[in-house]
This record gives sequence, structure tokens and C-alpha cells, in this order.
Amino acid sequence: MAKILVVYYSRTGNTRRLAEVFAEALREEGLEVDLKSISEVKPEDLEAYDGVAVGSPTYYGLMASEVKKLIDDSVKIHGKLDGKVGAAFTSAGGYSTGAETTILSIILSMLIHGMIVQGDPEDYHYGVAVKGRGGKSDIEATRRKAKRMADLVKKLTS
Ligand SMILES: Cc1cc2nc3c(=O)[nH]c(=O)nc-3n(C[C@H](O)[C@H](O)[C@H](O)COP(=O)(O)O)c2cc1C
Repeated sequence: MAKILVVYYSRTGNTRRLAEVFAEALREEGLEVDLKSISEVKPEDLEAYDGVAVGSPTYYGLMASEVKKLIDDSVKIHGKLDGKVGAAFTSAGGYSTGAETTILSIILSMLIHGMIVQGDPEDYHYGVAVKGRGGKSDIEATRRKAKRMADLVKKLTS
């Protein structure tokens, strides 16, 4: 069975909530999912997964330093994530206040690792970005993103 890691950093719980929704939706798609906070994950752990979803709060328009540290430390396993599926999500304090650049900052690192990141032609094109805890439509968008990620992982691993 394909295996996905949902890893997040969250100081006040908003990104954690998105991570929980993301993980639950992946499980509903029949995938094996580990949900972990960033402090529980070492770069070498990432090799065990077919896909990795990374959640960070938006800090000055970029990912939090805790998330960047895991990414920088992942140079140890550079080349080992090639072809795995990636996805990113963030909670920010507002709308149009740096959330999309945060998602893109995570995605850039994933692409440098050779990971595959699917956009979305409908909405939340780069990944899920929500204000605070997010509303009902944001939660639906998170579930949709997780389902699309699950579909892609299944296609690539079947
Ligand atoms: C150091 C710091 C920097 C922040 N920078 C931004 C920012 O650039 N844009 C924004 O919209 N919100 C910013 N925020 C607000 C957080 O992104 C927001 O409160 C988010 O929901 C926190 O997520 P969490 O509950 O998972 O920690 C910042 C918060 C902190 C503590």
C-alpha cells in the first residue's frame, strides 16, 4: 500500500488542523498515512514514503524556519526523493499576505528534490492556503487537495 507522510509545523494550531484534515482525507482514499509534527521527523525518514505533504504557517511570506531546517537538512538524502509526490499547505494571518509565496517556497524545494507536484486548474492552484483556522470551503479544498494527491500517488505506484 502506498504510504504518505503529512508533516507540519504549527505554533497556534491552525496548520495542525489542516494537517489533520489532510491526513484523514488521504486515509479515506485507502492510503497508509503518518501524521507527524516537524520535530518528530528526520530527513532520512522521508525516504520511506511515496509522497510527502508539508504544512507550515506563513511567516513573513515564507515557510517557518523549523520547516526550512528540515528541508536544508534533507541535503543528506538529496536524490532519494526523486519521483515522489509532494504537496504543500499553509495557514496565514490574512488573505494575499504571503500565503502563496509560502506554498511556492516549499514547492521549490520539492522540485529541487525531483519531486512531482500537481497544480489544480480549478482553485487553490498551488496548494491550500487559508486564513487562520480556515472556513468550511477551505476544509473542503484541503480534502480535495488530499484526494488529488492520493490519486496521483496511486497512479504512480500501481
Ligand atoms: C513570526 C510570524 C510571522 C508571521 N508572518 C505572517 C505573514 O507574513 N503573513 C501572514 O499572513 N501571517 C503571518 N503570520 C501569522 C501566521 O501565519 C498565522 O497566525 C497562522 O495562522 C499561524 O499558524 P499556526 O496556528 O499553525 O501556528 C506570522 C506569524 C508569526 C508568529
